Amino acid sequence: MDSENLLVTGGCGFIGSNFIRHLLARENFRGRIINADSLTYAGNPDNLSGIAEAHPGRYLFEKTDICDLPALKAIFARHGIDAVCHFAAESHVDRSIKRPDSFIQTNILGTFNLLEAARAAGSRFRLFHHISTDEVYGSLGPEGYFTEETPYRPNSPYSASKASSDHLVRAYHETYGLPTTLSNCSNNYGPYQFPEKLIPLIVLNALERKPLPVYGDGKNVRDWLYVTDHCEAIRTIMEKGRRGETYNIGGHAEMENIAIVEMICDLVDELAPAGVSRRCLITFVKDRPGHDRRYAIDFSKLHGELGWSPAESFVSGLRKTVRWYLENRGWSERIRSGAYQSWIREHYGV
Ligand code: NAD
Ligand code: TYD
Repeated sequence: MDSENLLVTGGCGFIGSNFIRHLLARENFRGRIINADSLTYAGNPDNLSGIAEAHPGRYLFEKTDICDLPALKAIFARHGIDAVCHFAAESHVDRSIKRPDSFIQTNILGTFNLLEAARAAGSRFRLFHHISTDEVYGSLGPEGYFTEETPYRPNSPYSASKASSDHLVRAYHETYGLPTTLSNCSNNYGPYQFPEKLIPLIVLNALERKPLPVYGDGKNVRDWLYVTDHCEAIRTIMEKGRRGETYNIGGHAEMENIAIVEMICDLVDELAPAGVSRRCLITFVKDRPGHDRRYAIDFSKLHGELGWSPAESFVSGLRKTVRWYLENRGWSERIRSGAYQSWIREHYGV
């Protein structure tokens, strides 16, 4: 990656913070990272603790809302931004069903603002990489895979807002010649994921012996990817991907939700024995409205053109993940107790 001043948006979230750690750990990345994040409930500076000290002068934080265009333009000017890796988003489907407003604001208008700021930066600007999801393609039956040619059929306000942002990115490349790349990835899991998403929620509830909610019949299928594999795929696309192109990213790890929940119960029983199987905590609950049945990704374009494939299997990645949550109880306790939100209010006045 030849960017000197890379703007990462949403770098205090789950994937963004893993990406910043991943990139700064690479010897051949010599640039600076400017992390713009508004610190919503999902943004946690704790996810990057120690990073500024470990990489003096190479990591900077800007508390910024991507819905604020003048603030974004000021960041571009102040830091000489020459590339963007855009993670910032409202990311949880269930929240989008209850309150879609912020999804429209951040995911659509926020992306539009960033594209405008990048366009205004002119010829020094090298690359806008947009992070998106496989959920834009809708739901699959028992057969087949999403390819880059699959028509968009988003079913939730979250996926519809992400689909809109993807279209804007494409249009800025076609219309204004903005150098862009776009990736649509399957479900991620790993360290620092906010415990409202399936895997961390089930791990923590199992530890605390709380009910383990499984939506509907538990047979919905997702294709799971360990987060550092996603980070490496993004880095590869930014470095070698063709401008204007979209790349699908997946793990070849299709799993039914119920199977994952049972695997987590068994891992927690093994690593933190309680004398009774956590499987007894499994509780089937009312299904999510418009719940997509199956996602599965064909990533042969990314593999064939750029040579990427996942390094982690689901079994090894899940074990690492469960272990991480067990070893980092302070992190999740601060989030779950609300202590962390008070800390943000004190430090940033929000
Ligand atoms: P996350 O919810 O953990 O983090 C989102 C981050 O964006 C937070 O730090 C939050 O504070 C920040 N943010 C939200 N609104 C903002 C705004 N208006 N201005 C500035 N910052 C704002 O999300 P994640 O799981 O890390 O997902 C990151 C990206 O990857 C998203 O674009 C998501 O659509 C995409 N994605 C996620 C997955 C997944 O499984 N988590 C899979 C595929 C794609
Ligand atoms: P989630 O982690 O919210 O990701 P997404 O909706 O983006 O795929 O959910 C993953 C799957 O797990 C999805 O099919 C919904 C299901 N699920 C549950 O069964 N119980 C839960 O408590 C949650 C949060 C999700």
